[in-house]
Amino acid sequence: MSKLFVALLALLCVSAVAGKYQLSFDFGKQNFFDNWNFFTGNDPTNGHVKFVSQSEAKSAGLISTSGSNIYMGVDHTNNATDGRRAVRLQSKQAWSRALFVLVLPHMPGAACGVWPAFWSNGPGTWPYGGEIDVLEGVNKLGTNQYTLHTGPNCQMPASRNMTGKWVQSNNCDNTMTASGGGGAGCAVGDQDGTFGSAFNKRGGGAIAYDIRDSGIRAWTFTKDTLPSDIRSDSIDTAQWPQPNAYFPFGSSCSADHFGAQTLIFDITFCGDWAGSNWVYNTQAACPGSCKDFVSYNPKAFSNTYWTIESLKVYQGN
Ligand SMILES: *[C@@H]1O[C@H](CO)[C@@H](O)[C@H](O)[C@H]1NC(C)=O
Ligand SMILES: *[C@@H]1O[C@H](CO)[C@@H](O)[C@H](O)[C@H]1NC(C)=O
Repeated sequence: MSKLFVALLALLCVSAVAGKYQLSFDFGKQNFFDNWNFFTGNDPTNGHVKFVSQSEAKSAGLISTSGSNIYMGVDHTNNATDGRRAVRLQSKQAWSRALFVLVLPHMPGAACGVWPAFWSNGPGTWPYGGEIDVLEGVNKLGTNQYTLHTGPNCQMPASRNMTGKWVQSNNCDNTMTASGGGGAGCAVGDQDGTFGSAFNKRGGGAIAYDIRDSGIRAWTFTKDTLPSDIRSDSIDTAQWPQPNAYFPFGSSCSADHFGAQTLIFDITFCGDWAGSNWVYNTQAACPGSCKDFVSYNPKAFSNTYWTIESLKVYQGN
């Protein structure tokens, strides 16, 4: 090997370790919606929702790209006894190793019955392709939740370098039953002010996560904590703070639990999480039945929308 080659190799190794990423795909603005498939099937989480096609969403004003941001909302005008109209977008491309950066001035605000999420999922039978939830919450929660759902043998260490506030389970295996000690994935809950109206009040911000051979890291930034390179074509995560959630790969959970990830945005209502009696009536102190509330109170959902400034995908060196 020539000395130059060795030097170059050393340089490459150093930059790989440093966490440098280059822009590889931009979902864009005017063409944003062309990069997604609109899912119109029944909600797999049993929500009181009707996912509509791109053309229906456009004509009903549920999506738009007018102005400098992308808007994705729900029907907040009509009663909706057959399920409230909303969209579920799934990216046409999938990525196995990448850094995803979503800059969003506004996310769906606190309201009884809402369940918004930005997440990704691998191929094949769920949960064997691996699911990564990076922005998720229900009803009036002001705390974001990060969760992995995987096939067997994916355990997280009890002690991890992350700023998240609590851990629900370190077992990501979603094939186990609750009585077997698993079944809900491995969730990390964030600090107050990282979700819903609380996040919006702080001026919005950004969500980022990366998938590397060494693990998955996720960050939630608010307007006042945005890294200086968040909007640039070249990002150095080594300069970013400790992640809000960290899921390391290793002998207790190999990286191959995660296939190429399809990105997903959706807003659903009620269903398995937001609509369960304890969560809806007790935790959130929401009135009556979730289905009735969502059906007959369209105005309660005027704040149930995403405003997206940009969504970009980066590749590490
Ligand atoms: C956590 O981060 C500190 C400081 O960067 C480092 O010294 C330590 O080894 C890390 N611990 C783990 C478990 O990764
Ligand atoms: C929705 O249903 C409620 C209860 O039946 C009714 O009072 C209200 O007028 C309806 N609103 C619309 C916009 O149809």
